[in-house]
Amino acid sequence: MDTYEVTVQKSLKLEQDIYANPKKYRVLTGDRPTGRLHLGHYFGTLQNRARLANLGIPTFIVIADYQVLTDHDSYKDISENIKQLTIDYISSGIDPNKDVVIFPHSYVPELNQLMLPFLTLVSNSELSRNPTVKEEINAAGLKSVNAGMYTYPIHQACDILFCKGDVVPVGKDQLPHLEMTRTIARRFNDRYCKKNPIFPEPQALLSKTPSVAGLDGFQKMSKSRNNAIFLSSTEDETAKLVKKAKTDSERFITYDPVNREEVSNLLSLISLCTNEDPKDIAQRIGDSGAGMLKRELTESLNEYLRPIREKRAQLEKDPEYIRSVLLNGVDKARELAQSTLSEVREAMNMVI
Ligand code: TRP
Repeated sequence: MDTYEVTVQKSLKLEQDIYANPKKYRVLTGDRPTGRLHLGHYFGTLQNRARLANLGIPTFIVIADYQVLTDHDSYKDISENIKQLTIDYISSGIDPNKDVVIFPHSYVPELNQLMLPFLTLVSNSELSRNPTVKEEINAAGLKSVNAGMYTYPIHQACDILFCKGDVVPVGKDQLPHLEMTRTIARRFNDRYCKKNPIFPEPQALLSKTPSVAGLDGFQKMSKSRNNAIFLSSTEDETAKLVKKAKTDSERFITYDPVNREEVSNLLSLISLCTNEDPKDIAQRIGDSGAGMLKRELTESLNEYLRPIREKRAQLEKDPEYIRSVLLNGVDKARELAQSTLSEVREAMNMVI
């Protein structure tokens, strides 16, 4: 297994080659439909996905509805969340008129059929030592851990491999799953189709923006930590959240991520929206203090998010369109999943 540094280097190389040869690749990535997306998602992944799709790379986005069942008690919002997620994608610039396939996992039965052979290619101990799964078990505070929790990295491998995705834009937390996917692809090819390998070994494409901190300044932005600005928040909600953001007792604003985490994070958020260097922003605000810093942040966020929010409002009014994007995605995903499944069946000597 590669170290994190090696993965970063490989990802940078991959990035260059993608620019030179976009058609050589196929991107697959996905999200669980557990709620609306926020700025952390936007700068961490959505922007990157839109950029890749707009380069002309075939892009698959799986809405991982089954994965929700692994660590959430409630399933009542799944359908609404699938639609809201799709609206978030499109309003962030992921264009379904390009080579983009957006689909809910549960609608593609052929994809799930890969799960059975794949499960036989990994051991119980490999499943139980996955660090991300362990973290999620702790974070969810589950009393007893269902088997779906241990096995979801395998159906994530099915998500990626059914379409022969070879580029997976992900954050650091997903790297263990990608490693598992690579292992499965390698073992499957070795065992069943050495001469004509069916599956690629997909590579991670790490986002250039490190994880975005929330308005409390030191934790990752997330819904459960109540520190997130959603793409769907109104301008007033954004202003209120920013008002509550923590700063410190020093009036003069400086950019000093080590000693002034909260203030520096707010400056970084402005910088993400305006592309201005955080040090320059700090210098400009200087003596005007935290009040001015927050006013600038609210304005930059609302300004930046305005076109996305306008697009969102438009799409919210057209549920039929959202449904058609998803059903169209399901058709394309199924076609590909069927073709991969026949290859797999043939390789495993199960054709009748
Ligand atoms: N596990 C991912 C998450 O929780 C979602 C996901 C499902 C995914 N299938 C994927 C990510 C395939 C990348 C590739 O965010």
